[in-house]
Amino acid sequence: MHDFKFRNKELYCENVKVADVAKAVGTPFYLYSHNTLVDHLTKIQRAFAKVNPIVCFAMKSNGNLAVLKTLANYGAGFDIVSLGELNKARKIGADPKKIVFASVGKTEEEIMIALKAGILFFNVESVPELTEINRIAKRMGKIAPVALRINPDVAAATHNFITTGTLKNKFGIDLASTRKILKERKKYKHIKIIGLHIHIGSQIISAKPFINAIKKLIEFLESLRDEKNDIEYLDIGGGMGIIYKDENPQTAQNYADAILPYLEKTGLKIVMEPGRFIVGNAGIFVTKVLYLKDNGFKKFLIVDGGMNDLLRPSLYDAYHEIVTVKSTSAKTMLMDVVGPICESGDFLGRDRQLPALKNGDLLAVMSTGAYGYVMSSNYNVRCRVPEVLVKDKIFAVVKKRETYEDLLRGETVPSFLKKK
Ligand code: LLP
Repeated sequence: MHDFKFRNKELYCENVKVADVAKAVGTPFYLYSHNTLVDHLTKIQRAFAKVNPIVCFAMKSNGNLAVLKTLANYGAGFDIVSLGELNKARKIGADPKKIVFASVGKTEEEIMIALKAGILFFNVESVPELTEINRIAKRMGKIAPVALRINPDVAAATHNFITTGTLKNKFGIDLASTRKILKERKKYKHIKIIGLHIHIGSQIISAKPFINAIKKLIEFLESLRDEKNDIEYLDIGGGMGIIYKDENPQTAQNYADAILPYLEKTGLKIVMEPGRFIVGNAGIFVTKVLYLKDNGFKKFLIVDGGMNDLLRPSLYDAYHEIVTVKSTSAKTMLMDVVGPICESGDFLGRDRQLPALKNGDLLAVMSTGAYGYVMSSNYNVRCRVPEVLVKDKIFAVVKKRETYEDLLRGETVPSFLKKK
């Protein structure tokens, strides 16, 4: 379900006309639906109600404070991967006992600050990291709560760049080493291993790989003896896929039906880290047509949004549906929708059927709420676009468009380059 629908041939986000937002804030911009965010979060909470999980929204998928606050208001915690993300969680007053911290490369500063903040646990990805957390916790006179991220060596059918659960990937700890750590856990006097964590990849549309990974994890748990005594939490990561084109992903309920029996059997408290499932279809990217160019061989619809604003098509060859904000029955033709960046890889969509649009017409690139704005950059010295949140009939700019002044901030020409 999402709240971007056509009414009288006009695209609406909830009860706001997308074209009205464009008039107010200019283009390009990201637009999010409050109702859709809440609906997706609630779907997970309801489907998994039997185990009453802590749903830690993966903030890397969308870090806008207003989005985070919306989700926190409805009970979400956060999966963070950096100090920047911890700062954002604190800024909106998130409960530290609902924050889990993953990342293969946590720095000393990050570990110290997260420990001081009292997060639920660190998801630890290697032995050297465990040793480092132990050292820092000792110095601070604390006991660090830790979950070991296990690499279950399960392949998930998804894009190569976003699969994480096999030994070819840098993530997690293999099962033999995990067993060894648990056996020797007394060695780490300032660490309490209270959980096990898995995350096998992203945009996974079938429950099967999740089941395989969880089964493997449970078999592993059962094979442990007193080493598992302190383990209270099972963090099953994120990764649930959404519809971009013609996928038929499992619903939250299908997913829950498939794995709840296994989860209940463990008797452990469940943590989940969905990102894309909650926010992916809760956002669109709106861009304006500049030119329709025809080189005799191919047509290019040149728009004002580019790969610096939305990287997924260029980086992963990801498909995002592109629709005109005013629907028309005009004849369509085949064209590539491309941005103004000086790279051939700068496209938002290839081989799309669209009408002969003209300068000023608006397009919506759908399902861009996850890994959209957060992966944008200033490439070609372009200002990052605004983010807007709609709630029913009202909307607010929740991140301002950057200015050219912002882009110069911090840069200097040293005096030795200045001509006398
Ligand atoms: N937990 C951990 C430890 C993760 O690494 C990730 C995502 C998640 C949770 C959330 O996964 P989700 O539920 O969103 O699938 N930029 C890529 C996706 C990278 C995913 C990275 N990790 C894309 O645009 O498709």
